[in-house]
Amino acid sequence: MITNTELEYKGDLYPSKIVSYTHDVDSIYFYTDNSVILKLTVLRDSLIRFRFTTKGYFSNDFSYAIDRSHSHGYNHLEVTEEKTYFQITTNKIICKIQKVDLRASIFDLKGNIILEDELGFHWEECYEFGGNIVKMSKASRDGECFYGLGDKATQLNLKGKRVENFATDQYAFQKEQDPLYKVVPFYIGLHHKQAYGIFFDNTFRTYFDFCHERRNVTSFWAHGGEMNYYFFYGPNMQDVVTSYTDLTGKPELPPLWALGYHQCKWSYYPESNVKEVAAKFRELQIPCDAIYLDIDYMEGFRCFTWNKDYFPDPKRMVSELAQDGFKTIVIIDPGIKIDKEYWVYKEALAKDYFCKRADGPYMKGKVWPGECNFPDFTNPEVREWWAGLFKELISDVGVKGVWNDMNEPAVMEVPNKTFPNDVRHDYDGNPCSHRKAHNIYGTQMARATYHGVKRFSYPKRPFIITRSAYSGAQRYTSSWTGDNIATWEHLWIANIQVQRMSISGMGFTGSDIGGFAEQPTGELYARWIQLGVFHPFCRTHSSGDHGDQEPWAFDEEVIDITRKFVNLRYQLLPYLYTMFWQYIEEGTPMLKPLVYFDQDDIQTHYRNDEFVFGNQILVCPILEPNAQGRRMYIPRGEWYNFWTNCLVKGGKEMWVDTKFDEIPVFIKAGAIIPKYPVQQYVGEKEFDELTLDIYYKEGKEKSVVYEDGQDGYDYKKGRFSFLSFQMTGKEKEVNIQLHKEGKFDTNYTKFKINFIGLPFDIKMIEIDNEEIVFDAKSYKENQYLIVPKDFNVLHIIG
Ligand code: NOJ
Repeated sequence: MITNTELEYKGDLYPSKIVSYTHDVDSIYFYTDNSVILKLTVLRDSLIRFRFTTKGYFSNDFSYAIDRSHSHGYNHLEVTEEKTYFQITTNKIICKIQKVDLRASIFDLKGNIILEDELGFHWEECYEFGGNIVKMSKASRDGECFYGLGDKATQLNLKGKRVENFATDQYAFQKEQDPLYKVVPFYIGLHHKQAYGIFFDNTFRTYFDFCHERRNVTSFWAHGGEMNYYFFYGPNMQDVVTSYTDLTGKPELPPLWALGYHQCKWSYYPESNVKEVAAKFRELQIPCDAIYLDIDYMEGFRCFTWNKDYFPDPKRMVSELAQDGFKTIVIIDPGIKIDKEYWVYKEALAKDYFCKRADGPYMKGKVWPGECNFPDFTNPEVREWWAGLFKELISDVGVKGVWNDMNEPAVMEVPNKTFPNDVRHDYDGNPCSHRKAHNIYGTQMARATYHGVKRFSYPKRPFIITRSAYSGAQRYTSSWTGDNIATWEHLWIANIQVQRMSISGMGFTGSDIGGFAEQPTGELYARWIQLGVFHPFCRTHSSGDHGDQEPWAFDEEVIDITRKFVNLRYQLLPYLYTMFWQYIEEGTPMLKPLVYFDQDDIQTHYRNDEFVFGNQILVCPILEPNAQGRRMYIPRGEWYNFWTNCLVKGGKEMWVDTKFDEIPVFIKAGAIIPKYPVQQYVGEKEFDELTLDIYYKEGKEKSVVYEDGQDGYDYKKGRFSFLSFQMTGKEKEVNIQLHKEGKFDTNYTKFKINFIGLPFDIKMIEIDNEEIVFDAKSYKENQYLIVPKDFNVLHIIG
């Protein structure tokens, strides 16, 4: 075996041999000859934290990413000392730590290797800033695949790539451009049907190399801080992702309207323009729930002010919009204009809340309002003050959501586009420079905003959206992918980014539909909307300087396509809301890349375009002009073409015909898809039936529907309705068992049932073992059944 000493190069330093160890409840400390300590903590049977120091002691253990309420506790932990290594055994994995150099290797209980250190932990001392550049390398095997890492605009499978994590305002970014706005130092490795995950919880600038520099090596390193990472064992990607999401936290449910369609532009003003846009949606009957005010609503771009020429009476406007079903969302940036007459500036100055340079002066930088100072959102007192600033906007004016932008933080007219490295931050009582706080700044801003909006919206739910984010930001906010471009390539990027965010714990994400920079053709806009309605966050936004991007900026055909797809989203709201509930409950990603959906099928490992929306709807966007259809991979199992109801057998690549007003959408055989009627906004209509589209399958399939008051927090007290349908299809019968949980009684009393693919004519229907009157003639005409919602067993007999 090669030892680390032989591989030492470039001033890298390595741990020397273990001289002692201690075992303290869930943690084992290994001490080396050269003052390195490895603290290995077993958080769960399949989750181990590795924390290293080179100083002989650990600094305060503090992380913004870790959710304090994460599940913790293992079933079994055993430490044994062998001749050359220590062995830690849990109920799921075995971890060996080599005595000679602290290298780790992890095995499943059958002894299969899951992940093994190559050089393992090593470091370089950093003369300029102090501390270390901390490094880790792992051996990688042929055929291994890598996923995750947030918003990277490159193939889903990261094998062969090197990526950098440094939150950056990357206007009009390109495919492969890196770094971007978000920082999610989490990846999933997949090899021989076994998945594992690594979360490198370090907020400094970090890098990951997936066999790019060296063929069989994966490495990650940071410009400072600790080598501090978590290892998650699968073996399913599902276990890895849900466990990562549990560790870094899940959001609360958003108000249902936030899952509707949102319309945005830089900028709608004055008031008459906002009203016109809103009215046009209603006139054209294109559903819309939210309208955004970008920076021009403010007085000279001063946050928490209104330009009274454009918006003389914001409260009245917001309430008039609300009467028509529109929620108003406003932008709030971190830069506070340096202006001695401006109350927010004066308050922050008086309280000493702005970030300072190393030698004392305030951090000053140009953003929209000109020279600004920037609150230190890593100071809890500043966050509390910031939260309080939302009182007027939310309680008095009636704004329903807040959009945090430029929080990388972005600074104009400087080469690095952000704060200088020496800026100081409180970091919740762990004072540090911007090198450490940079990547977390945006999340702490969104966190403060979330607490403010929530406080003043209560008992309703808040809605926050952010551009920059670090792991864990999902607890507070949704996000969008930043300043994209109206090109076909960007449609491809949007599809990748939203899928990737979904398996990186931050599922409530969307792209600027149609593209932010430049002007989409009608065709591109239509193709983008067709994808966008299947993204958890669905908003059209544009820079506004290349013409309009409302649906009616395009021709009739595009308007009709927009309406058709937005209508479909509104019909699918109960399905989408159920996906969201599974995300907040279990950490399940709302969009599932094919590899996540079926990791055992190696055909899925390099797929990018197709994804599963929720659990049962397969979507594949059209990403090229003039398409009459496309080739796509249908995952294993049986699927119904949503448009033709034809059944196809998956596990193969095939050509799918589509018209301009369709994209390939398939429904998993056996699925029961719940639908609401089309509404122009959430809550517009009262309805007495929930539509259930039942896609016949021979065999069993489970489908679930989550509902609640659509806003507010009663759901946390059990006031929700959770329907679980177990369908069993046979040659001449279908049996549906319904189990209900929760104390919420939905307004509707009936189900309207559509059968798709039923291979027999219905002769008889039984509800809870009693035959009911079945009017075959009317069924033939209408093709639907109405049944009361409180059945236990529905038996359809042919
Ligand atoms: C940059 C954001 O990414 C964009 O969405 C916004 O419209 C502009 N800033 C102006 O506020």
